[in-house]
Amino acid sequence: MNAQVVRMPKLVMLSGSAHQCLAKDIARSLGVMLSDRALERFPDGEIHTELREDVADADVYIVQPANSPVAENVLEVLLLADAARRAGAARITAVVPYLGYARQDRRTSGGQPLGAHVVARLFAGCVDRMVTVDLHSCALEGFFDSPVEHVTAVPLLAGALRAFAGRDGVVVAPDHGAAKLADEIGRALDLPTALVSKTRVSATEVHARRVVGDVRGRAPIIVDDMVSTGGTMVAAYAALVAQGCLPRVTIAATHGLFVGPAIARLRELPLERVFITDSVAPVDFSLPGEIVGLGVLLADVVRRLHGGTSVSSLLSTR
Ligand code: R5P
Repeated sequence: MNAQVVRMPKLVMLSGSAHQCLAKDIARSLGVMLSDRALERFPDGEIHTELREDVADADVYIVQPANSPVAENVLEVLLLADAARRAGAARITAVVPYLGYARQDRRTSGGQPLGAHVVARLFAGCVDRMVTVDLHSCALEGFFDSPVEHVTAVPLLAGALRAFAGRDGVVVAPDHGAAKLADEIGRALDLPTALVSKTRVSATEVHARRVVGDVRGRAPIIVDDMVSTGGTMVAAYAALVAQGCLPRVTIAATHGLFVGPAIARLRELPLERVFITDSVAPVDFSLPGEIVGLGVLLADVVRRLHGGTSVSSLLSTR
């Protein structure tokens, strides 16, 4: 009897316009080229896209972070996915290293939408699978009707921090949501941890109420899933100083959004270094910083998904 030949579907990498650099890094690691497509705006602002290469029967990956402009960036993925579906793609995976709206995962008043659920449904309606990195909360996976590979960049960040952090460091969660993250990085660096209790006053202002853990005489390393306006970091540092920490601070976060007053705020801190990943296209943040690339990690995820092998060792457990 003849052995049956199993043909792997063609791997196709597409990119939206938000972060082509990361898409190229992933493609390079995989040894493929980004697939050609047109992506432009009609005069009325509508997005027009058109695939320029054959994706029939292909395993298609669309790389695009959903940061600002969030709605446009999400829609680009949906339109590219629809184009690929109509052109006969066998499977479509959205690789969204930063998922906008993820913080809207609960309602704080009866008149609010569940933004994260709305966005999850949009993606799930157009793609077969999602790959994303360090979501605001693991529970978000439950909002998607299609499979989600929730990858973590924490080992990469911890590796970068390890070469830098002194023995006098303390890893600090600036709010309860970051407690497990701080614990994980604290264990990786073999440093103690502390927690700041935070209350959000508005989209740009937070109050840090108290510090749990001993930070006196220690150099804080504040870790979070993202830096957006920088309010959380600044408030946390003020609370730590009041408890006698050393007057220098290191910041580490997967997503460096740096919107609005973020850079100006962080410049006011005695900042030793900021560690972020390139989950969104890095802004020129002109601070002492280190950007940890996600290209190799995400290429590894794509390689495993394409080959049908397990990605579980790369997934977040927080
Ligand atoms: C909130 O729960 C998040 O984990 C971050 O702490 C927050 O989004 C950071 O935002 P900002 O930099 O504007 O304080």
